[in-house]
Amino acid sequence: MAMSQAALKTEQAIGHGDNATTAQDITNPSNYPEAADHSDKMKALAWMGKNKVEIVEAPKPKIVEPRDVIVKVTGSTVCGSDLHLLHGTVVELQEGDILGHEFCGVVDEVGPEVSRFKKGQRVVASFQIACGSCYYCKQKLSSQCEKTNSNTIENAMYGGRTAGMFGYSHFTGGFAGGQAEYTRVPYGDVNLLPLPDNVPDEKGLYLSDVLATSWHAVVDTGVKKGDVVAIWGAGPIGQMAADFSLINGASRVIIIDQNWRLEYVKKKYPNINTLDFSALRRGESVTSKLKEMTNNRGPDISIECAAGEYAKGWAHYFEMLLGLETDTSELINEMITSTRNFGSCGITGVYVGFTNHFNIGSLMERGIRLIGNGQAPVHKYWESLLAMIQEGKIDPLKMVSHRVRLEDLGKVYYKFENKEDEMQKVFVQTRFSQPAAQGSPSLTTY
Ligand SMILES: NC(=O)c1ccc[n+]([C@@H]2O[C@H](COP(=O)([O-])OP(=O)(O)OC[C@H]3O[C@@H](n4cnc5c(N)ncnc54)[C@H](O)[C@@H]3O)[C@@H](O)[C@H]2O)c1
Ligand SMILES: [Zn+2]
Ligand SMILES: [Zn+2]
Repeated sequence: MAMSQAALKTEQAIGHGDNATTAQDITNPSNYPEAADHSDKMKALAWMGKNKVEIVEAPKPKIVEPRDVIVKVTGSTVCGSDLHLLHGTVVELQEGDILGHEFCGVVDEVGPEVSRFKKGQRVVASFQIACGSCYYCKQKLSSQCEKTNSNTIENAMYGGRTAGMFGYSHFTGGFAGGQAEYTRVPYGDVNLLPLPDNVPDEKGLYLSDVLATSWHAVVDTGVKKGDVVAIWGAGPIGQMAADFSLINGASRVIIIDQNWRLEYVKKKYPNINTLDFSALRRGESVTSKLKEMTNNRGPDISIECAAGEYAKGWAHYFEMLLGLETDTSELINEMITSTRNFGSCGITGVYVGFTNHFNIGSLMERGIRLIGNGQAPVHKYWESLLAMIQEGKIDPLKMVSHRVRLEDLGKVYYKFENKEDEMQKVFVQTRFSQPAAQGSPSLTTY
């Protein structure tokens, strides 16, 4: 049995903790009659097994708790994190779980205790589900809410839990996601942000995750004026983290990745330097090259925006395959050895469990600060990021390569996974979406 399914069975046998104040494991209204409203049907993208997703039909979700909001989805997307679910790297998915943790839309229905929203209002949801009043929520550290996820395995394995998350497996509470035509938002007053008229869905959507995640990676790792910053991974998170590093005063940013992704960066972000790890000469390494590019000392700050599941060499590939580790340490070691003495490294790419061959010596001897940035606390930043969009300081559309239809999402996942058609961040429209806003890529159908 795959580890993902073994973990799910174990969780079912042990049972959840008693900390959650919102219902757990409602990942598809089809499977939970008390959560289904049969007045309308919807299309949604569901996980159907390891490396298998497809579009399914399900009843519309129903209000099940007084603080719920039902959102009619007008925009969603696929995230690098969804690939960890597709691959079964993030454990405890169940067949039929609706995915998607980034979405915006229009309020369709509100529960009797919802006070901030009414039907018809445009909103964006945060990827995490927070209660708004616990120890972490009071500090706006919403990704670590103590009341929305009662998963026992996560608690035992991590020594604490993250918040519940939309479309992100039973490991984070089991909530139906936003790659759908409707989504139920628990604690709607807390987890939705109104979108003003001058911010189209095509920009506002990315407040769900990417913008807050990359901004958090930059400020949490400590980028300050004059710093040289190196970023691993030129996906949407890496690109925005690069943009934000410059906004936060970095003197220079170098992105490490390979192939067309770097060409994309050169075209869209001309102030950012690139390093292609696949084009190194014999005897060269990312570390030696970065030193060469930065006075032989290395960057002040390094940020990991790739993920722990992408092994570079055979050793880690096999160790992961054999279950001897869940994540490779290659990127982290590369960051540590590249960074200047007493510099800082942040990890924002997803790491699931344990890793071998970690270079603890370099970390200790050279005084490197290694920071887990955590799942990003969206609520801490989304209002100020919205203002940055309105002021034109940031343009989320720079990272958006395609506009696609929800009904094609089953195919889009595999194109996204294989980076076909130079696909990176997509905007997924539904039957409820407005016509494309200015600057949005035109629709591609599959
Ligand atoms: N912490 C959070 O709150 C949070 C939120 C969203 C996403 N994430 C994570 O951030 C990561 C990036 O997200 P994304 O949407 O940009 O993903 P993505 O998959 O589009 O991009 C990842 C990039 O990393 C590159 N990469 C892989 N191995 C590399 C290596 N050895 N060296 C350099 N680059 C390498 C890939 O080529 C790819 O371009 C993912 O792991 C995602 O799960 C974290
Ligand atoms: Zn995401
Ligand atoms: Zn909370």
